[in-house]
Amino acid sequence: MNEKFGVRIAGTGSYLPEKVLTNFDLEKMVDTSDQWIIERTGIRERRIAPENMVTSDLAVEAAKKAIEDAKILPGDIDLIIVATTLPDMYFPSTACIVQQKLNIRKAACFDISAACSGFIYGLAVAKSMIESGPFKTCLLVGAEMLSKITNWKDKTTCILFGDGAGAAILTRSETNKILSVYMEADGRYSNILELPAGGSRMPASEKTVKEGLHFIRMEGKEVFKLAVMKMLEASRKALEASGKKIEDLALLIPHQANLRIIEAIAERLTLPREKVFVNLDKYGNISAATTIIALDEARQQGRVKTGDIVELIAFGGGLTWGAAVIEL
Ligand code: UT7
Repeated sequence: MNEKFGVRIAGTGSYLPEKVLTNFDLEKMVDTSDQWIIERTGIRERRIAPENMVTSDLAVEAAKKAIEDAKILPGDIDLIIVATTLPDMYFPSTACIVQQKLNIRKAACFDISAACSGFIYGLAVAKSMIESGPFKTCLLVGAEMLSKITNWKDKTTCILFGDGAGAAILTRSETNKILSVYMEADGRYSNILELPAGGSRMPASEKTVKEGLHFIRMEGKEVFKLAVMKMLEASRKALEASGKKIEDLALLIPHQANLRIIEAIAERLTLPREKVFVNLDKYGNISAATTIIALDEARQQGRVKTGDIVELIAFGGGLTWGAAVIEL
């Protein structure tokens, strides 16, 4: 068997649209309050992309920053993976559109559909494609434009989500720095977090539009319970596989869906508050983009530095979940 190559994250970048939608703005749209949203979720505001932007635009902005941070040229990239819940269109893949917009000539491109766990799933795929060759440099993006599939009349979901993108450049390295990636799913729960219409089961029709079936539908309480349990499991399994202990972590970067979920996980993992990254107060839940945006922000803020060990954990529609232990 060929010897495996090592893989590392050589750069990160993120992009958040400028427009801020606060809880007070939402008070004017649905029967909710700033106090309820903060107490039940921890979210204060979220970013909303302009009408004329599409998912690939967000992805490209984040990608440009990651490319600069990694000090590579777009032409060095030979693999592009975009994790997204809402691609520009069903086909071609958003990754192909990102390739075109970045003017990259020779790369393999595809999207990953794993909802909020998309970036972690993408890490696993990119890692194995680089370590076994022939790919050397991967642009991995988590990009979401959830505002376009949010029912702005449904108070139980419209307070939760936001738009944005994060990107990482993964390259071959002498020693492997993606220490472990754990992934799992349970399709028995596919109906508790879904976008009911628009696919082959329920193609778009006048009826589906009228009934609001092109919007995210979630059974929040059920998702909540499983999110805590499964993210804890994933965190422990990824740590075990990496040979690291919880005390080795410089920072835990959990999926940013609900502060109560994050606090429950931190408590059960016995992690002090300063070792747990939170930015959902500013952005809400950006699905596949949350963990990579958070990692990029943590690097920019100096919360983590080269050599530090971080763990990313995510959970979302599918249901899917996963975790990754990374040495920066
Ligand atoms: O990214 C994928 C993973 N997603 C998640 O992890 C999300 C997990 N779920 C959650 O974060 C929480 O379940 C929610 C934040 C979505 C909801 O919080 P909850 O504490 O589970 O509330 P609930 O759904 O049980 O609703 C409690 C009450 C209900 O009223 P009644 O029936 O008790 O009279 C709701 O109608 O709160 C009401 N409610 C609201 N009130 C004001 C629901 N949404 C709102 C709202 N403003 N926005």
